[in-house]
Amino acid sequence: MSEFFATYQTPIIFLHVLSAVIWVGGMIAMRFAAHYSFAALEAPQRLARTAHALRNLFMMVVPFVLLLLLTALIMAVGMGLHHGELKLIAFAKEGIWSVMALNLGAMIYRRKKAQRLIDAGEFSSAAPLLGLIGRVMVPVNIALGIVAIFLGVMLGH
Ligand code: HEM
Repeated sequence: MSEFFATYQTPIIFLHVLSAVIWVGGMIAMRFAAHYSFAALEAPQRLARTAHALRNLFMMVVPFVLLLLLTALIMAVGMGLHHGELKLIAFAKEGIWSVMALNLGAMIYRRKKAQRLIDAGEFSSAAPLLGLIGRVMVPVNIALGIVAIFLGVMLGH
């Protein structure tokens, strides 16, 4: 694996950074651009648009979440990160990835549930399901993603 990493170091780090940009950047665009724009709509439209935009976001990021982990594991093994003095930072990043991925899974589940309620016209039941995603779950993943990026800079230098 170290030989593989040494040969393909540049594309592996590139794909790792690109995946982080799409995952974290996608959430930031949704939370700070789309969210405030949808807030101006009436409830049924707002919920339908929000559920639709979140579906597109989640479908886009899932392959990059997996690519982020794959490139991370190649780097961890290739650089021997689990044994050296940087192991705590590597373990912290793996922990952060796991929490972010679990949070994303929970958001995908809630969004699907909300979609079914929206399709049935039960807007008042759908609202809290989507509300928590916007108020808490996405911001938590943005914050964790930023910490992971900072730790990535520490590992790279
Ligand atoms: C799953 C566990 C992870 C491991 C083992 C890991 C490992 C690494 C390593 C070794 C580097 C340094 C690459 C270099 O030599 O320049 C790095 C950089 C980076 N990581 Fe991760 N990473 C993980 C998760 C994440 C997550 C969850 C994110 C963000 C969502 C992320 C974002 C970044 C970014 C943006 C860089 C580039 C920093 C720079 O350019 O200096 N990583 N990561």
